[in-house]
Amino acid sequence: MVDHGSILVTGAAGQLGAVGRTVTGLLLDRGLPVRAMVRREDERAAALRAAGAEVVVGNLLEPADVYRVVSGCQRVYFGMSVSTGYLEATVTMAAVAREVGVNALVNMSQMTVSQMSIQHTTPSPQQRQHWLSEQTLAWSSLPVVTVRPTVFLEGFFLPLTGPSVRDRGRIELPFGQGKTNPVAAADVARVVAAALADPGPHLGRIYELTGPRSQDMHGVAQVLGSAEP
Ligand SMILES: NC(=O)c1ccc[n+]([C@@H]2O[C@H](COP(=O)([O-])OP(=O)(O)OC[C@H]3O[C@@H](n4cnc5c(N)ncnc54)[C@H](OP(=O)(O)O)[C@@H]3O)[C@@H](O)[C@H]2O)c1
Repeated sequence: MVDHGSILVTGAAGQLGAVGRTVTGLLLDRGLPVRAMVRREDERAAALRAAGAEVVVGNLLEPADVYRVVSGCQRVYFGMSVSTGYLEATVTMAAVAREVGVNALVNMSQMTVSQMSIQHTTPSPQQRQHWLSEQTLAWSSLPVVTVRPTVFLEGFFLPLTGPSVRDRGRIELPFGQGKTNPVAAADVARVVAAALADPGPHLGRIYELTGPRSQDMHGVAQVLGSAEP
């Protein structure tokens, strides 16, 4: 059997959407070796190690760290919290992945990028970072799989709606009449894990991931209101 080495999962200790952490578990469940990258040794790192991952500590903004953690891996999930250094981290990862000869890089992006172009960007720094990062990876000629989810249910939508629904029976979010279609971060992780486990059919593809239905906050309220306690 061909040895593809471990699969590198960055941002593996995450807590917001925790896609990296869930992907780590899903790959381990499939019997695949996982190198889980974290920023520091803490109880989250210990839990990943206890689950069977090889845990490595590093900073995605440090090229030497990135080279150390990618070396020996042919498949990589690249995901981290968006910050001012996000584009820099993407460029660093792309340079290292080319040097190491990565066979598949699954890149976490955002659905908003689907509506962006040179003439149509947004004022959101976060969305721009993702758009520029996708541009960079396209120029890199790396074998990339792009995942563009809408807003995550678990890490964003539910925490922001939960308290006001519980305390005042209201959804208090600045959506106006706008519609949204949240997706479960766990489902996003399933897509990422499937692409990492067998990248061939997915290379070069862009996956736009949504929930089952786009609706305004009145529609969301109806769904929440009809849920069994
Ligand atoms: N939230 C949403 O609704 C949503 C929707 C669509 C797309 N996305 C995209 O999803 C991505 C975030 O995914 P997620 O929610 O699964 O992530 P997450 O749970 O927030 O985890 C991100 C991880 O990145 C790590 N990290 C941050 N900076 C780092 C650095 N310099 N070096 C090494 N690790 C670093 C963090 O480490 P620490 O834990 O140590 O801080 C954290 O563990 C973002 O790109 C975001 O734009 C999010």
